[in-house]
Amino acid sequence: MPVQPIRLFGDPVLRTVAEPVKDFDKELRTLVKDLADTMLDAPGVGLAAPQIGVGLRVFTYHVDDELGHLINPVLDLSDEEQDGEEGCLSFPGLTYPTRRAMQVVAKGMNMHGEPVTVEGSELLARCVQHETDHLDGILFIDRLDRTQRKLALRAIREAEWAGRPAPPVRISPHALHGRAL
Ligand code: NI
Repeated sequence: MPVQPIRLFGDPVLRTVAEPVKDFDKELRTLVKDLADTMLDAPGVGLAAPQIGVGLRVFTYHVDDELGHLINPVLDLSDEEQDGEEGCLSFPGLTYPTRRAMQVVAKGMNMHGEPVTVEGSELLARCVQHETDHLDGILFIDRLDRTQRKLALRAIREAEWAGRPAPPVRISPHALHGRAL
């Protein structure tokens, strides 16, 4: 069952800071595959592990035909910024103008535990910032200006998916010291 249900705004897992990956094992590779399959099925340009109920610092992206993933990312952002519409699979159907850095250099690991750098601008940079925010429990509505945030919160209240009970948390296969995220 590679394609997983995507958690929607209101699910506490989306506000939980994800744990760094320590074990680069088969379970992690399965998680990366599930994330990629779920993202491509949606379809979306990025998906972070908390969005499928797993509290680990992993995300996948699919931008300009490039399919990739990054684990334990650390970002270096440009001072130059970009404006543009942004959405999120956890907020179906909603997009708002969201300011982001224009360029990003993201250092992290791949699923084999090898150090990798993802470098990009425009949409890839936007995606990497958005997904890394997810790992810190930050959502794109937090990045909107006041007017746009008001509009977003109103639209969320009116959305047909709002207020649905969250599904049960999925127990991570990884040691999370007893925490189920
Ligand atoms: Ni998102």
